[in-house]
Amino acid sequence: DLLAQIKHLEEIFTVPKERLDKIVTKFVKELEKGLAKEGSTIPMNPTWCMGFPTGHETGTFLALDMGGTNLRVCEIHLPEEKGEFDIIQSKYRMPEELKTGTADELWGYIADCLQQFIEYHHEGEKLDKLPLGFTFSYPATQHYIDHGILQRWTKGFDIDGVEGEDVVPPFEKALAERGVPIKLTALINDTTGTLIASAYTDDQMKIGCIFGTGCNAAYMENCGSIPKLAHMNLDPELPIAINCEYGAFDNEHEVLPLTKYDETIDKESPRPGQQAFEKMIAGLYLGEIFRLVLLDMHEGKHMFEGQSIDKLKKPYSIDASNLSETAELMRTQFNLQCNKPELELIRRLAELIGTRAARLSACGVAAICKKKGYKTAHVGADGSVFNKYPHFKARGAQALREMLDWPEKKSKRDADPVEIMTAEDGSGVGAALIAALTLKRVKEGQ
Ligand code: BG6
Ligand code: GLC
Repeated sequence: DLLAQIKHLEEIFTVPKERLDKIVTKFVKELEKGLAKEGSTIPMNPTWCMGFPTGHETGTFLALDMGGTNLRVCEIHLPEEKGEFDIIQSKYRMPEELKTGTADELWGYIADCLQQFIEYHHEGEKLDKLPLGFTFSYPATQHYIDHGILQRWTKGFDIDGVEGEDVVPPFEKALAERGVPIKLTALINDTTGTLIASAYTDDQMKIGCIFGTGCNAAYMENCGSIPKLAHMNLDPELPIAINCEYGAFDNEHEVLPLTKYDETIDKESPRPGQQAFEKMIAGLYLGEIFRLVLLDMHEGKHMFEGQSIDKLKKPYSIDASNLSETAELMRTQFNLQCNKPELELIRRLAELIGTRAARLSACGVAAICKKKGYKTAHVGADGSVFNKYPHFKARGAQALREMLDWPEKKSKRDADPVEIMTAEDGSGVGAALIAALTLKRVKEGQ
């Protein structure tokens, strides 16, 4: 019986090459639509980060990284000549309650962390306002690099009164109320930071990606290829980083191979109908997909017969990083004893969910490469899923090989033409570099 269940799970969670191709075909079109028109499914947000760093960026900058799990503050000294960065940093917890609390609590908490950081590292010093690169990793409409209107919360955040508003004024207000000597210079996305930081040390770097709590990418586009900016008469050759926000790909549910578990995740999320692609692949959801399948197996009387599954009933109780130790997870966290076939199903399920995530993630990268005509590229990647999920890198690379037609390798040791690799710290170094580039542009009056 369980063998039949495993077979069924394999059928619904496997994404064959033909389906990958279909997804990428739509993906390329959607990237183009996003560049053509405001309000498209994939937003393709212009970031006003105009081009790559030259290596001559210098100065001291603060970077604030508001990710899904941690809040991090860094102080970065960019050297006179390209070389080692000097970084000091402190990590603060991002309390779970904050994600669904009030806007005042959010900005107040962040300002408190910045204040603590400055008091600790600059005790007793008289400071001029320090320039800050703020990595705010949510979709934002930017008319200027130091402003951003939150389009919608993602990654499970749900704080009233922020969507549709510029996030910078309330953030600066919270700083001013506490007398924190900071001037926000650039508001950036984690993907843009990853792209810029990685390009600083690697001139093959063309795409910055996050495979973490959320999933997204940024790359450099020419202004002339962005019809929705045509009214601004920008130099068509001028490069500008685009934060794709492609977690929203296929919100129409046309090509993604959704299972009933994915449908449940969507329905029960704070923002149903949004981030369809992200909900199938990002770290926030992988453990939850796993949990929903196990519950379903139990309800169908296939597993854990006669045992209490109360603990397993708690939504979002499984951290994606635990999916590599499934037997241990069942025993310690859920107090469930598994027989051999049950263990086999559980192990296989974790593998299927992870493989599907890796293969689907690769579609976004393949789509950018196809759209830009990149035959070769380095892709910088960061995030907990990329760095910690077993085999994620190898499975993603395999999917790229299936999707992008590459000439036969001369030697087994040759790198793939498009390679996804571990990125530099984009939300530290990248934010500092973008802040430095911005100040330089302002000085030069551009
Ligand atoms: C971190 C970056 O390394 O990765 C953050 O500093 C980024 O800016 C994060 O948001 C993404 O990974 P996760 O798993 O924390 O969402
Ligand atoms: C979500 C956010 C996006 C971010 C990504 C990775 O998709 O909307 O801004 O880049 O997660 O953190």
